[in-house]
Amino acid sequence: MRTFATFLAAATLFLSGAFGVGRSAEPSPDQEPADMQPVEDRINVHMSYLFKPSYRRLKPLMRSAPTDAATWNKMRSEALLLAESGSNLTQYHSSNEFNPDAKKNWPRNSADVKKHAAALYNAAKKQDFADAKRSYTSMTKSCNACHKSEVSLGSPPMLTPFGKGITDN
Ligand code: HEC
Repeated sequence: MRTFATFLAAATLFLSGAFGVGRSAEPSPDQEPADMQPVEDRINVHMSYLFKPSYRRLKPLMRSAPTDAATWNKMRSEALLLAESGSNLTQYHSSNEFNPDAKKNWPRNSADVKKHAAALYNAAKKQDFADAKRSYTSMTKSCNACHKSEVSLGSPPMLTPFGKGITDN
């Protein structure tokens, strides 16, 4: 991959030299342009402004099989948001110093949220409610697995996938 990137960089350099195209300030493939930095890197803000509202919108949709396309689409939309946000969590790490396993658990639980949310997304796309419900339940377990690991940090809540919950009904 790196070799290919180097080849591309060399080819771009050659072509821009030869034909006068390309921008001289082009960042190298290893450099992240400043505007690609995360907008917000505090996990509690991700949880309160992305995960929590999305889960709250999703939860009532999971009570019974949707009867129209609009509801399936809403389910898809929340699942995709949680899958991509779960994937994003893998770039961070636990700052819980009290649980020796927390740092080790963080990437696994983030990746599991992504995996099950992606399965939910695909089930909603196929309009398969049994599959969607299974994936939603597994995703919630993975959310809670991280919350359990992080419990001394701001006491993250235990989410209830069905029925009344403290924070998410
Ligand atoms: C890899 C770890 C991790 C995963 C995975 C994770 N969370 Fe969290 N979550 C946290 C942490 C840490 C906090 C506590 C943040 C704080 O208050 O400092 C938290 C807090 C929360 C809160 C409380 C925030 C508030 O404003 O009340 C909600 C709700 C929440 N998470 C929802 C979710 C949902 C839904 C998922 C899965 C789709 C999820 N989380 C997955 C780490 C995680």
